[in-house]
Amino acid sequence: MRRPMASHSTIVILEAPLDSGLYRDALRLREEILRRPLGLRISNEELADDSMRQHFCAIDCGAVVGTVSLRPLDETTLHLKQMAISTQKQAARIGTRLMAHAERWGSEAGFRFIVAHARVGAEGFYLKLGYAPEGATFFEQTIPHLRVTKRLR
Ligand SMILES: CC(C)(COP(=O)(O)OP(=O)(O)OC[C@H]1O[C@@H](n2cnc3c(N)ncnc32)[C@H](O)[C@@H]1OP(=O)(O)O)[C@@H](O)C(=O)NCCC(=O)NCCS
Repeated sequence: MRRPMASHSTIVILEAPLDSGLYRDALRLREEILRRPLGLRISNEELADDSMRQHFCAIDCGAVVGTVSLRPLDETTLHLKQMAISTQKQAARIGTRLMAHAERWGSEAGFRFIVAHARVGAEGFYLKLGYAPEGATFFEQTIPHLRVTKRLR
C-alpha cells in the first residue's frame, strides 16, 4: 500500500461519548467510509447497538479522521467494529494507533480477548496487528467477512 506523507504528531485519540459532537462526526465518517460505498445507510439497529459501545476517534487538526468502537460480549471478550479511516488519511498508521488504543483500553478494563468481523479484503490489516482468522467467511452488510480474534496482553 502506498504510504502518504503524514505527521503523527498532530493525531490525538479521544473517547467519543454518545451524543457528543465527536460521536456525531464519527457517525458521519462511518457512513461515508463503511456504508455509502455499499449503497447502505447506518441503520436504527446500529444506532441502538452504539448505545452499548465505547467509541474512540482519531483527530487531526480538530477533524475526526478515524473511528472504532468496542462492546463487551461477556466478562472476558470485547467486540470491535466500525473501524474506519478517512480516505485521505488511510495508510498513515492511524488505524494502527486506534487499534492500539482500543486494545490498551480493553486490557486495562480487564478484558482478555477482542473479536472483530473483518471485511474480506481488509483482513490483512488485522492479521498484521496479530489477529488470527477463525472459521469460514460469512456475509454481513451485504459483503463477505471473516471473524478475527486476538488475546490481549
Ligand atoms: C482498513 C483501515 C481501517 C486500515 O487503517 P489504516 O490507517 O489505513 O492502516 P495502517 O496505515 O495503520 O496500516 C497498517 C498495516 O496494515 C496494512 N493494511 C492497511 N489496510 C489494509 C487492507 N485494506 N488490506 C490489507 N492490509 C492493509 C498496511 O499496509 C500496513 O501494513 P505494513 O505494516 O506492512 O506497512 C483503513 O484503511 C480503512 O478505513 N479502510 C476502509 C474501510 C475498511 O475497510 N474498514 C475495515 C472494516 S473491517
